[in-house]
Amino acid sequence: MSSFSDYIHNNKNRFLDELFSLIRIPSISADSAFAQHMEAAAEAVQKSLRDVGCTHTELCPTVGYPIVYGEKMINPKLPTVLVYGHYDVQPPDPLALWETPPFEPEIRKTPTHPVGAIFARGACDDKGQMFMHVKAMEVMEQNGGLPCNIKFMIEGEEEVGSDNLEDFVRANTKKLENDVILISDTGMLANDIPSITTGLRGLSYVEVEVTGPNRDLHSGLYGGAVANPINILTQMIATLHDEKNQVTIPGFYDNVELVSKTERDEMAKIPFALDEYKKALDIKAVHGEDGYSTLERKSIRPTLDVNGIWGGYTGEGAKTVIPSKAFAKISMRLVPNQNSDDITELFTQHFMSLAPKGVTVKVTPHHGGEGYVMHPEGVEFQAASKAYVETFGKAPLPVRDGGSIPIVALFEETLKSKTVLMGFGLDSDAIHSPNEHFGVFNFLKGIETIPHFYHHFTALYQASQ
Ligand code: BES
Ligand code: MN
Ligand code: MN
Repeated sequence: MSSFSDYIHNNKNRFLDELFSLIRIPSISADSAFAQHMEAAAEAVQKSLRDVGCTHTELCPTVGYPIVYGEKMINPKLPTVLVYGHYDVQPPDPLALWETPPFEPEIRKTPTHPVGAIFARGACDDKGQMFMHVKAMEVMEQNGGLPCNIKFMIEGEEEVGSDNLEDFVRANTKKLENDVILISDTGMLANDIPSITTGLRGLSYVEVEVTGPNRDLHSGLYGGAVANPINILTQMIATLHDEKNQVTIPGFYDNVELVSKTERDEMAKIPFALDEYKKALDIKAVHGEDGYSTLERKSIRPTLDVNGIWGGYTGEGAKTVIPSKAFAKISMRLVPNQNSDDITELFTQHFMSLAPKGVTVKVTPHHGGEGYVMHPEGVEFQAASKAYVETFGKAPLPVRDGGSIPIVALFEETLKSKTVLMGFGLDSDAIHSPNEHFGVFNFLKGIETIPHFYHHFTALYQASQ
């Protein structure tokens, strides 16, 4: 079906222009000052679904931001693909580190993206990847029609924990009925090494507050005599890892799924250049749990990281002060069989127990979610694999990723279908960082590969009936 690639080639500038319009809307879900832009982004996504042929679209209200729904049902006997994505983006801060403004997309060439990459917040995560699916529908509609039914569910709260999507999914299982869920919100190994994400980590996220004296104190008059909350907090955090870089919370590893030797041997074959990895990050050495490779550390093993820490005086010059309070935000990436609520509880118990009498400690849980693993035997993976063979000329490698899309585990539980994670971003695309970008090659390759997935999935599904 070379007509797909011809059509994409002939329309690529328009596809990019349309994506740019969506990217220009600063849909930052974490910051309520951007609420109007969130609504505008939802409407823009809805319009794009209408434009490519969805016969029914709606903005489904939630107590937060709306979920965009769209569908085209052509025949109840044919399978249904449900596409999930998100139109919200991470805050762009720190703004000063962007080479061009985050919401003014610009294409620039890079060594990894010789054809050019779109630089903007959301270019890869997830507007660019989500929009590939919208354009893939157009490609199918204009080149022989859809081979099966299609539904879209595009949310606006992924970056803040998908709290309202959970209620929406539970309340709409009939409407969302499908045979496979298709998501492009992850990455692949390299532009010439296609891969499909077969695992995501879960997440437990907490904020901790350590309180000492009832006010900031003169560090000369009181220093040495009362507990300094920042000293205490950093000491407590330092004990959370041991000399093997394992997490010390009792019970933390109890349910961790042990990955078989065969699977670890398979992982060891995944092309991974440690030197390039270090060079790209300007680090002299990698760091992590003893006994595991870098790829293993960031996918099949759980972690604990401080994401932010503050308190006391951080302004210009020196102010001699013992702060009243110190704070930190801590995330734990989890692997299959660890339960995020249980881990949050274990963390809370342990962290409280570490506090000396001179301070009080408060732990506030934020959003969390469970991990996901998919085994590459099912028809879903096979269909995706065949699609990549057509467009990349080689089969994709199954790779477990380190990031989290907590809603995926919930999809499987409530909608009883499998998810295929066809990500086209690269780890080096700087998602969540300044200068986020998405390769033009990747964007167009995604638009080309997705229609092949629909055709192969429909054929394999029909053959299995
Ligand atoms: N798209 C990412 C997740 C991702 C990226 C998974 C690359 C695998 C590879 C998603 O938007 C994200 O950022 N998720 C958050 C979790 C969420 C609860 C805020 C994450 O992983 O930090
Ligand atoms: Mn994402
Ligand atoms: Mn994200």
